[in-house]
Amino acid sequence: MAQTSVVLITGAAGWLGGLLAKALRDDNQTPDLHLILADVVKPKAPQDTKAVTMKADLTDPSQVQSLFQTEFGIPDTVYCMHGIMSRGSEDNFDLGIKVNFDSVRAVLDAARQYGSAAGRLIKFIFTSGGAVYGGALPDIVTPSTIATPEGAYGMEKLAIELFVNEYTRRGFIDGRILRLPTIIVRSGVPSGATSGFMSAIIREPLMGRETICPIGDSLDSPELDLAAWVASPTTTIKNFIIAKHIPAEKFTSHTGVVCLPGFSTTIRQELEALENVAGKDTVRLVQFRHDPVNSRIVKSWPARFDISYPLSLGFLVDEGGMVPVVAQFKRDLEAGNL
Ligand SMILES: NC(=O)c1ccc[n+]([C@@H]2O[C@H](COP(=O)([O-])OP(=O)(O)OC[C@H]3O[C@@H](n4cnc5c(N)ncnc54)[C@H](O)[C@@H]3O)[C@@H](O)[C@H]2O)c1
Repeated sequence: MAQTSVVLITGAAGWLGGLLAKALRDDNQTPDLHLILADVVKPKAPQDTKAVTMKADLTDPSQVQSLFQTEFGIPDTVYCMHGIMSRGSEDNFDLGIKVNFDSVRAVLDAARQYGSAAGRLIKFIFTSGGAVYGGALPDIVTPSTIATPEGAYGMEKLAIELFVNEYTRRGFIDGRILRLPTIIVRSGVPSGATSGFMSAIIREPLMGRETICPIGDSLDSPELDLAAWVASPTTTIKNFIIAKHIPAEKFTSHTGVVCLPGFSTTIRQELEALENVAGKDTVRLVQFRHDPVNSRIVKSWPARFDISYPLSLGFLVDEGGMVPVVAQFKRDLEAGNL
């Protein structure tokens, strides 16, 4: 009989949570999948899955408990992905702490408590990001670069990382921390992330709509040479699945942190890729209005990483830079897949 895997995704109504649920359904290493999908907005289950969908505000501890008490029993894997994104946490400090720290800690404690009751370690996969870094950084961030965030979101992510590592060291959970690049091109409505414009300047023009680029004043602005560390959703979701299957002993670092592979792009290279894929008229839909707060936060994030450690663990990397990423988004848009 196929081995049952019960997977809880928090933030399952969000962009990556939704993509992950579909990818888990299609993962042939997880044949008998039971999904518990939770979000403050009622998530939708992908077709042809055994799924429980829960509308749950995870800032309420009793609702966190309910995720571990469904008819599917105690999950073997938790993807803890709910949260208030970077600009949202910067603008509303108390809400950011409540969601990105307090409620995530409650999920972590529940994973410890229910895992212990079941006599096994729950795999706890936490999505962090490059926002944990700040200050003076080396040209290339390595696994030993110290993370000192310059924003509330990065601070909240780093604080949870410390808990995940300590809980893992103590044998409470089997924690894996994925520091994500900025994932582009995001579909759907613009997000509250500071980096949201990096998707919007591709997505909105391809949909025939004008959009604002908050970096620079025009296409000639030197500010457009601002570099960022990015990855495609396709590769990132594959990496989320890989993170579930890696045996714990393969993580050779003393922490569970893995900076997922990405590539470096500038805003200018993004716009050049857009022109390459869709032409000059499409690029003209991008307007410029420089936002110093946004610019400061994005500048504090590192733009290049040493990816030898994640590659040694079997994680994947995008090949070919921005053009294939923009071309894929255009194909998905035209095929009605978004
Ligand atoms: N998308 C990126 O580029 C990126 C980069 C780095 C890290 N991450 C991390 O990856 C994860 C997923 O990102 P995403 O882009 O899918 O974000 P998203 O904003 O699309 O999804 C987050 C979800 O969390 C839910 N949520 C917020 N508050 C909640 C609460 N109190 N209770 C329950 N659910 C709540 C929201 O309703 C939303 O559906 C997040 O943890 C994010 O910090 C994403």
